Amino acid sequence: MLRSDDVPMATRTDPAFRADVLAGLSLSQKAIPARWFYDRKGSELFEDITRLPEYYPTRAETAILRTICPELVGAVGDGVAVVEFGSGSSVKTPIVLNCIEPAAYVPIDISGEFLRASAATLSSQFPGLPVLPVEADFMHPVPLPPQVADMPKLGFFPGSTIGNMEPLAAGTLLRAMRDWLGEGAMLLIGIDRVKDEATLVAAYDDAAGVTAAFNLNLLDRINRELSGTVPADAFAHEARWNDDAARIEMHLRATRDVEFTVDGRSFAMREGETIHTENSHKYGDRDARLLLRCGGWTPVQQWCGDGTFCVILAEARPVPIAP
Ligand code: AVJ
Repeated sequence: MLRSDDVPMATRTDPAFRADVLAGLSLSQKAIPARWFYDRKGSELFEDITRLPEYYPTRAETAILRTICPELVGAVGDGVAVVEFGSGSSVKTPIVLNCIEPAAYVPIDISGEFLRASAATLSSQFPGLPVLPVEADFMHPVPLPPQVADMPKLGFFPGSTIGNMEPLAAGTLLRAMRDWLGEGAMLLIGIDRVKDEATLVAAYDDAAGVTAAFNLNLLDRINRELSGTVPADAFAHEARWNDDAARIEMHLRATRDVEFTVDGRSFAMREGETIHTENSHKYGDRDARLLLRCGGWTPVQQWCGDGTFCVILAEARPVPIAP
């Protein structure tokens, strides 16, 4: 029998990856969705990023989560089902689970592999806790496990992952979460703040070059999984602050004219042309709360530590029929 390592790469390639890369490289501003960063190597590099001195969000959010427990329990109560969007991280999820002692934990992730791994880890850390993983795309709600139907729900969406989305998609996602969890549910969400440009750019262009390696790994993944011939040595990592859109953008900039093929299709780039690989939107104080309101979530409490990053608790209140 074949071990999974022996299965030829091509058979493991997600057809959506091929479609996104071929479509994205055909645009005049080339662009590939950020979700494709996270192959095994990319996920490891992201873990390394979270420990960089310049990358403040993970440390800031974790520090906030550690201090808010008494207030969180007061606001949320007990017996809730915690529904986490994205497979639970090894550090943040236990802080919340230890704090509120939930009746069930429901991690939702599009990747079955990460989902099963994190569910197994959490199960062994919290022996009495029902862990009920759901393999699904956030954007397409599927039924929650029947065991949690009558429990109050707390959504957990840490990491400022919402920042990867354009505001339109972020609003759509928040509304989908509201439909999913139901009226009366609460949401604990991490949202990164607008701050000075130097701090933001450094967080996405660190001195050790880990973020550069994370960005460039996308080209290796294309070459590996889509039989690409992209000359990775002809690309440089770039992190820019786009003030109009209030976001950090990551790009891969061609340092010379290049031609390559991906899955048999030819592409060419001129020196200086870029592939746009990620947006990380940052929100001001009112911006973040307005975003939540647009998604049907009323902010009830927020914790911003030293002001670099905020954790906001919001509630899916009934929509008033009149002011
Ligand atoms: C995981 C999307 C929150 O945007 O800060 C970190 C990803 N990219 N460094 C972010 C990321 C480059 C990260 N998120």
